[in-house]
Amino acid sequence: DFQYPHTFVLLGASGDLAKKKIYPTIWYLYRDNTLPRNTKFVGYARTKQTIAEVREKSKKYMKVRPGEEDKFEQFWEANTYHAGAYDKRVDYELLNQSISKSEKGPVANRIFYLAVPPTVFEEVTVNIRNACVSIKGYTRVIIEKPFGRDDVSSAKLSSHLSGLFKEEQIYRIDHYLGKEMVQNLMTLRFANQIFNPTWNRENIASILISFKEPFGTEGRGGYFDDFGIIRDVMQNHLLQILSLVAMEKPVTLNPNDIRDEKVKVLRHINPIELKDVLVGQYVGNPEGQGDEKLGYLDDPTVPKGSVTPTYALAALWINNARWQGVPFILRCGKALNERKAEVRVQFKEAPGDIFNGHAKRNELVIRVQPGEALYLKLMSKSPGMKFDLVETELDLTYSMRYRETDVPDAYERLILDVFTGTQMHFVRNDELKEAWRIFTPFLKNLEENHVIPEQYVYGSRGPIQADKKLADYNFKYSGSYKWQKPEVA
Ligand code: BG6
Repeated sequence: DFQYPHTFVLLGASGDLAKKKIYPTIWYLYRDNTLPRNTKFVGYARTKQTIAEVREKSKKYMKVRPGEEDKFEQFWEANTYHAGAYDKRVDYELLNQSISKSEKGPVANRIFYLAVPPTVFEEVTVNIRNACVSIKGYTRVIIEKPFGRDDVSSAKLSSHLSGLFKEEQIYRIDHYLGKEMVQNLMTLRFANQIFNPTWNRENIASILISFKEPFGTEGRGGYFDDFGIIRDVMQNHLLQILSLVAMEKPVTLNPNDIRDEKVKVLRHINPIELKDVLVGQYVGNPEGQGDEKLGYLDDPTVPKGSVTPTYALAALWINNARWQGVPFILRCGKALNERKAEVRVQFKEAPGDIFNGHAKRNELVIRVQPGEALYLKLMSKSPGMKFDLVETELDLTYSMRYRETDVPDAYERLILDVFTGTQMHFVRNDELKEAWRIFTPFLKNLEENHVIPEQYVYGSRGPIQADKKLADYNFKYSGSYKWQKPEVA
């Protein structure tokens, strides 16, 4: 297929996501010659502007290394921009005509990336279906969250979409599925016999999956307030990680076999109960610098008195033979002390203690970002004459072990997957449905009961109640161990 014409249409081309993420991503893919040679890019949005203006706006987000200038010019030559309304079929017919011009030959494929607000989502998809589908090749659509805001609205959206496109044509992005360490989870679990027999309730005490960000809503408060951190990060990114950590081994690596297992493990999870949740909202730090002084409610785009959580911790229970009784703790927050996303698998204490309680739990840490790493905390005899115990680790830090390798950005991988037709790292309809089944009742409960979030200070570790909650869910934090980033020799 790679020799035939391809068109990548970016709807919402004048928006934030387009300029910050999608234009840079398609440039990197183009630069690295990973896309079909004859690929054209078409931006579409309501704003009347030229491609030169689009280029100007995304400039500061696109890296162009010395020697790549000519290629960069070629990239923009392969780009056009088309202004049109989202709700007018005739505008899409014009778009279709302009795409067709570069589609010589027997086969031509089209990809539509919907970086548009949820309010126009339905009309955009209808119009693509009516006026823009390829008549001599594939048509694929890439869509971004929000996929609804609860079970009912999401189901409505799904049935709308399934009336227009086949599931094989729909690529629901969860960009966490494009991250190196998330993609590594299956290999770690299923290609290593050392983890196989221990990955269960007999050996594992608890699992913590966390996401931390050191900044607040940064003017995105309007969008954010409608959704909150639970819908923004937990229901999608963290739950996706959970399903890869917890699922059974798929029959094969076929995308649908994998997604069958992800759905299966989600089906074993009961809806989250309010008692298993802690929510927080950040307040300004009077001693902080710049933005740190401002709390969530000080953001002018956030409605006064909003109780939308910017932090959340929830325990999920998987009622199957492998996991019954093991807490899966999801934790996420904005305006915290650091940027970090990781999975911590905490093993039980070694039974029959002969070390007077000095042995600490093993912990397998899968660090998603920043600085991909995998390390296993373990106990060892302190080297030398003494017979003491020390906490140490087996460490696979990517920047040390794979110095020459560039880890590609999540969006690069995922967009390339759409060109090659690989749905492995995209969310299937039934996964989404299960995710909303698990999350909707307590989200409703939070909103209906107007649950006031616990306050935490911008730049802190989160609400102080969180440590107690972690302990309640059998996650032990001793504070005696600190992972050191190894020095590059
Ligand atoms: C997005 C959320 O999905 O993920 C943002 O909407 C969040 O609120 C972002 O900042 C985090 O992505 P990453 O790749 O920077 O961890």
